[in-house]
Amino acid sequence: MPISETEVHLDPDALAAQLADDVRAGLTATPRTIPPKYFYDARGSRLFDEITRLPEYYPTRTERAILVDHAKEIALVTGARSLVELGSGTSEKTRLLLDALRDAGSLETFVPLDVDPAILAEAAEAVAAEYPGVTVAPVVADFERHLTLLPRHPRRLLAFLGSTIGNLDPGQRAHFLGEVRATLVEGDAFLLGTDLVKAEERLVAAYDDSAGVTAQFDLNVLRVLSRELGADLDPDAFVHRAVWVAEHDRVEMRLESVRDQRVRIEALDLDVDLAAGEQVRTEISTKFRRAGVERELATAGLRMTHWWTDVDGDFALSLSVPA
Ligand code: SAH
Ligand code: AVI
Repeated sequence: MPISETEVHLDPDALAAQLADDVRAGLTATPRTIPPKYFYDARGSRLFDEITRLPEYYPTRTERAILVDHAKEIALVTGARSLVELGSGTSEKTRLLLDALRDAGSLETFVPLDVDPAILAEAAEAVAAEYPGVTVAPVVADFERHLTLLPRHPRRLLAFLGSTIGNLDPGQRAHFLGEVRATLVEGDAFLLGTDLVKAEERLVAAYDDSAGVTAQFDLNVLRVLSRELGADLDPDAFVHRAVWVAEHDRVEMRLESVRDQRVRIEALDLDVDLAAGEQVRTEISTKFRRAGVERELATAGLRMTHWWTDVDGDFALSLSVPA
């Protein structure tokens, strides 16, 4: 069955303009930051996919195990006719939901949404081939800005898997969940994956694996900036760090300058002086507790109806509906 024409709310020019604004703001702020959405060019998306198979990176396989156990129940409870996946990437685990919704006889449309058009096109084609009878309608968009533009199919299940919500800070999460609530109508539901607080050693290992793939993923953002903004960022002049910040229940990925250096960002006409040992924060990965997730959802006007975890309590999937 068909792949609809890709809906584009974020074309390459708009993304480049946003990148320029974000990098200027982030690299001139204290602490210096680069938003994590810029990891995901074609190489970054491939590296993330590799991360999901690393022995230390438990979230993907744990969320998958929860879906194996509960996808059927999710399909029955929601009766969803369309599945909209935010930050869909390869949509690998999503097959479990698609299978369950198809088997329940309700599935008509799948709407994967991602900022990376390459991974989106690849995943959309694969899903369309695997699920004849389902219309696949890909959307290139930023889930922080474009949720109000989502197609309004009846009985939608909005899925945000992988604990990607943890990459947003509390203010960004409140805004995002408010937009989720605003787009949902009676009969729709929201499925959210959240990684849970656990021992620091496991958390740090998950973000600083022994094969160095996460380090490559982190350093990739420097290549993106060099290519897109004419920067002279040398990946060899930085090292990857993963730090558990207990005060905020989050792992922070940082790139640490190995020497005093002046970085030139041509497109911004900006020079940034970095001292040896100075760090640029490239990602936060927040870890959650049930009460916090329920509270954040409730504040946005969403009522949690289900909470599923793996046996070890490492990861959770929650289902909520408009309150
Ligand atoms: N959902 C998948 C992939 C997670 S990786 C999983 O659970 O494994 C995060 C995905 O979100 C990437 O594919 C990335 O390109 C996408 N992404 C990151 N920031 C985004 C944003 N602001 N808007 C849309 N997609 C985004
Ligand atoms: C996409 N996101 C939820 C991942 C995470 O775990 O925060 C990105 C990632 N960063 C390093 N490893 C994986």
